[in-house]
Amino acid sequence: MPHPLAPLLLDASDPNALAEGVWPAGTERVDGALRIGGADVREIAAQHGTPFLLVDEMVARGRARRIREAFEAAFPAVDVYYAGKALLTADVARWMRAEGLRIDVCSGGELAIALRAGVEPEAIGFHGNNKSESVIAAGVEAGVGTFVLDAPIEAERVAAAAERAGRVQRVRLRVSVGVHASTHEFLATSHEDQKFGVPIDEVPELVARIRELPSLELVGLHSHIGSQIFDADGFAESARRLLALHAELGATAPLPELNLGGGFGIAYTAADSPEPIEAIAERLAAAVRDAADHVGIPVPRIAIEPGRWIVGPAGVTVYTIGTVKPVRVDDGTRTYVSVDGGMSDNARPALYGAQYSARIANRSSDAEPALARVAGHHCESGDIVVDAEWLPADVAPGDLLAVAATGAYCHSLASNYNATPRPPVLAVANGEVRTLVRRESLDDVLSRDVGLRPEAEPATAPTPSHVASIDQGDA
Ligand SMILES: Cc1ncc(COP(=O)(O)O)c(C=O)c1O
Repeated sequence: MPHPLAPLLLDASDPNALAEGVWPAGTERVDGALRIGGADVREIAAQHGTPFLLVDEMVARGRARRIREAFEAAFPAVDVYYAGKALLTADVARWMRAEGLRIDVCSGGELAIALRAGVEPEAIGFHGNNKSESVIAAGVEAGVGTFVLDAPIEAERVAAAAERAGRVQRVRLRVSVGVHASTHEFLATSHEDQKFGVPIDEVPELVARIRELPSLELVGLHSHIGSQIFDADGFAESARRLLALHAELGATAPLPELNLGGGFGIAYTAADSPEPIEAIAERLAAAVRDAADHVGIPVPRIAIEPGRWIVGPAGVTVYTIGTVKPVRVDDGTRTYVSVDGGMSDNARPALYGAQYSARIANRSSDAEPALARVAGHHCESGDIVVDAEWLPADVAPGDLLAVAATGAYCHSLASNYNATPRPPVLAVANGEVRTLVRRESLDDVLSRDVGLRPEAEPATAPTPSHVASIDQGDA
């Protein structure tokens, strides 16, 4: 009889198994323990402590290369931007450049990482729905390749900064196309109720204004229709809508490019089955060709901005289990397994109800599968890392627990909730492990609290005489 609390698609057959496509390619068990990128997670934990995020460099770089080659094969001309919001460290930026990708940033902080990592400014695209004037000026002065404008006022702000810097700034315009997609479904409307971009019917007027500004050069339209998308249908619908507008706007002045954004989905659990990226690229190219033929223009230069697809499956977070608690719920038992991290290093389950896969990492086990929920150590009942997973029933305090596909939007969304220091980001390649971002110390976390500085005035806790005077009503 199925377990009453287990999701139907969760496979109970082998709680040691490493589902293909979920774990970094090449991950294996040696003597029962996980080996990722040629390194034994027990040794990494002994040397670096837990929790840690381990990124398999070869997997991340291989996927960057693969998606670039898939789109280069499908389109006559294409630029691939790595969406740094997924995971940006100096070395990750350098890997992406080495694999022929450009870098998309969406804040002054991400811009600084890319520039200080040595990324050529012209290879950087700059996004964001509310870039401050100082951040715009920093980008323009650094020589950022393109800005993606998100609102009419941004055209004026970027133009003014470019004029001051004596440059002509290349810009794209983010269009809210009325297509929103996630996983297998997409929703098409005439208008979208969201903060990003300019509604499609307001674009011609804004484009006319941008073209009047001599310090701006409009290179194309941009759209991003959502995240964790498993097939090409939503992208194709968005491309059809954009190409009609592209043809109209390109009839009066050059408009060489079209940016279709990111959002390509990955497998977080064995139940997820995204289409191979080559198939998505081909189907999207066919849709773009048809739409371009329909409006009588050549296929423009295409840009895409994947983040999750590249780094998500390259990352694994490893925790130490602290407590194991079977909890009886109506007709079943769920085993709560609590780890030494949680929503501060992986906010996605709490933010989006995201699903993940977990395995005991330091050993395999012949024990029967038990339905487990992996919880963090934070003071929130919603602090769940993995909502449902079959783990061996002998899972115990002290075991290492690995959570797969945490390369994207975990480090970048991490917080110091409950004054928790953030874990390090480690890279592994050919069995060698090195630190990309060191572990945060408690001193790092406390350093901004001015009252905790050594030179700070001691706290004026009420002394007995104060208390007495308060009691007497003369405070
Ligand atoms: C404008 C834009 N481009 C690209 C991305 C990257 O999306 P993903 O990591 O799902 O590929 C995002 C994600 O939010 C985005 O907002």
